[in-house]
Amino acid sequence: MTEQGLLGPSPIITAKSLHKMYGPHVALESVNLEIPKGATGILGPNGAGKSTLFKCLLGLIGTTSGEGSVLGYDIKTEGELIRSKIGYMPEYNSLDPSLFAVDQVRYAGELLGMNPNQASQRAHEVLEYVGLKDQRYREIETFSTGMLQATKLACALVHDPEILICDEPTNGLDQRSRAFILQTLRRTVNEGGRSVIMSSHVMDDVEDVCESIVMIHKGRIVVQRSIEDLVNQVEKEIELVIWGGASKMESELSSDNLRARRLGRVIRVKMDDDSTVSKILQAAVRAEVQVRQMKQYEPDLEDIFLLIMDKLGAEIKGTSDLMTPDHIGGAVHD
Ligand SMILES: Nc1ncnc2c1ncn2[C@@H]1O[C@H](COP(=O)(O)OP(=O)(O)O)[C@@H](O)[C@H]1O
Ligand SMILES: [Mg+2]
Repeated sequence: MTEQGLLGPSPIITAKSLHKMYGPHVALESVNLEIPKGATGILGPNGAGKSTLFKCLLGLIGTTSGEGSVLGYDIKTEGELIRSKIGYMPEYNSLDPSLFAVDQVRYAGELLGMNPNQASQRAHEVLEYVGLKDQRYREIETFSTGMLQATKLACALVHDPEILICDEPTNGLDQRSRAFILQTLRRTVNEGGRSVIMSSHVMDDVEDVCESIVMIHKGRIVVQRSIEDLVNQVEKEIELVIWGGASKMESELSSDNLRARRLGRVIRVKMDDDSTVSKILQAAVRAEVQVRQMKQYEPDLEDIFLLIMDKLGAEIKGTSDLMTPDHIGGAVHD
């Protein structure tokens, strides 16, 4: 059983030993996935294989080997059926600039098999849902990036799909449009009871919307679990702000078998048990330093991400570095 199998009995998406090659280039390697109902973030740097994974799951491109299913349908033979049950918001602009937004969305509905009346009615509804009620009769070529993304989202939602797959939905958006798109995705999960799978190279986006996370790195899945589990699994630390000799303090801590790491005047000490705090205070007395602040350090997802990437040996120092395609040897700024 994979880790993800612990999250729930019936995943909506599965993949087993999925491989995808583009000529000699390996884009996906031995991908095993079990995505539960709800909101899942697919996180990875540019070139990691996120878009390729989505296209394979939607049956838009063939896989080289392996198996996969979406809502129980086979990705190799039932792609069309899968696409009729899923909303897909692609990474790149898929809109016709000369159309009114309402016609574009209606057209998307008709392509998905809806009758013209039904598609037209839904086009109005979903455009209102994505905040474009007043722009329905504007040509798409006049739209901002945020409005284009919202229109793509409306096209993906027109047939009221059970699963919404969004490929980098916030890419290129300003803060306001980004917040709106993320809020709409959250609403689709929380109020609409739908599942959302979104890719991003930004941890914050995923953290805002998703309960579980899949990290992908060079075509391989490196982490697959709920965000809650991920946060709980990380070692707790005590963070100290000290005044005085930080190096002396460090050596006093390590002489007492405490594991400390130093970030300027801040020292983080691994919390072993209840005695850790008093050991720290004793070390401070021996080192003759003043402890200005001491608190339990709560790692956020960004820290966890860095820990994982550290273990992978990648020189990623922040999610901004995820923008770099082959981050090995990338700039170190800390
Ligand atoms: N059509 C294609 N032909 C050849 N290589 C491709 C093609 N599409 C993607 N790739 C390569 O496959 C890898 C994964 O790409 P992609 O799935 O687009 O990653 P992501 O969406 O995570 O940025 C990259 O190295 C990319 O250059
Ligand atoms: Mg992509």
